[in-house]
Amino acid sequence: MRLSVIGCGYLGAVHAAAMASIGHEVVGIDVDAGKIEALSKGEAPFFEPGLQEILSEGITSGRLSFTTDISAAEGAAVHFIGVGTPQQHGGYAADLTFVNAAFAALLPHLSEGDIVAGKSTVPVGTTAELAPRVAATGATLVWNPEFLREGWAVQDTIDPDRLVAGVPEGADGERAARILREVYHPAVAKGTPFIVTDYATAELVKVSANAFLATKISFINAMAEIAEVTGADVTQLADAIGHDVRIGRRFLGAGIGFGGGCLPKDIRAFAARAEELGRGESVNFLREVDAINMRRRDRAVELVTEALDGRVHGKKIAVLGAAFKPHSDDVRDSPALDVAVRLKGLGAEIVVTDPQAIDNARRVHPQLTYVADRDEALRDADAVLLVTEWDEYRREMDPEHVSALTHGRVIVDGRNGLDAAAWRAAGWTYYGMGRP
Ligand code: UDX
Repeated sequence: MRLSVIGCGYLGAVHAAAMASIGHEVVGIDVDAGKIEALSKGEAPFFEPGLQEILSEGITSGRLSFTTDISAAEGAAVHFIGVGTPQQHGGYAADLTFVNAAFAALLPHLSEGDIVAGKSTVPVGTTAELAPRVAATGATLVWNPEFLREGWAVQDTIDPDRLVAGVPEGADGERAARILREVYHPAVAKGTPFIVTDYATAELVKVSANAFLATKISFINAMAEIAEVTGADVTQLADAIGHDVRIGRRFLGAGIGFGGGCLPKDIRAFAARAEELGRGESVNFLREVDAINMRRRDRAVELVTEALDGRVHGKKIAVLGAAFKPHSDDVRDSPALDVAVRLKGLGAEIVVTDPQAIDNARRVHPQLTYVADRDEALRDADAVLLVTEWDEYRREMDPEHVSALTHGRVIVDGRNGLDAAAWRAAGWTYYGMGRP
């Protein structure tokens, strides 16, 4: 099939390349000329495992192209909208500027029978508002939310857990759902659940999934707070409750909390939308989820201060990690960087290292010192702070080896990823989050 993808960021670029990899002819469109130039040469503009390969393959095969010219969307059977919906400046609601701009640009190029499939995370009600304008061109609007995780985006796009399509009632909706099944043919063929529903449900599926995940993380972080005043160990607690299949162990990783381009802004936008709908109280807990999450960053700063006997000023702290999570170079709302910046504000000498995210981090926080080499970052440090659980730090860091590099022997594990006993055995003072 011929497809267009409007918006070539973390979502759109992966979607375009993944759709080409399953046999479609795809044009990716974005207003950012620099991004389009890189993508056209087959260069991934950000780090995402597996993206480089499918991108090069798509460009070489001729099935995948990129342009800034929106008229290139003409002739595609399905047009995916994958532009960003960031948090508004000075507010919690989603900023729909890019969604509105994408629709305004695309509408003149639509033909009778085209499908427009929105993938961006939007406030419930957005699709119903946009639908008449799309219908006036003879095309049909569907909402097809995206659940990809950064770091697993290629796999999640080609082989998702489930597919969701919010379609209009009647024959147009049925036809649109049929066409989407063709688009996602490999996943559909292997029996991946494909849920066809109304617009509002499709929009809510996305935000409620993220709200649930954020709540799960904040739940365990709240338990970490209680563990801290009782001497309990939150990781053992998580293991124990995680064995209950109704609860499950995943997303019960206590630490410095969630960040990134999705969970934080999505829960805030959801709360703001619920307020507009007169149902603010239904999701009031999301404000608490957000507050617990932000408190963990304060706690990490507190632990480092404690580890340095209350004197952070002038101390060298090696900060392991800058990305909001491993396998990504994304630093949007990164708890890792936030903690590093706060410590810098207290007068510490901060040296940050990360296998992928240094360039992005430096752009946002040029005041911090960055080194690519982990051991270089550790050299002469008074304290070590692990904030992104890359394997390089979590699995592949030998306490004896680190002892030979650092000045101090205190380590704060902001992700509870290290073997505390091994570090203590090597003479280190180990601080976890919600662990004795
Ligand atoms: C999330 C959703 O998982 C995905 O379905 C949606 O499409 C986009 O938002 P992503 O932002 O890539 O994906 O990251 P995710 O893996 O969900 O992690 C989010 C944050 O939570 C990270 O900062 C991570 O470090 C943190 N986290 C995750 C925890 O603190 N503890 C956990 O147990 C799990």
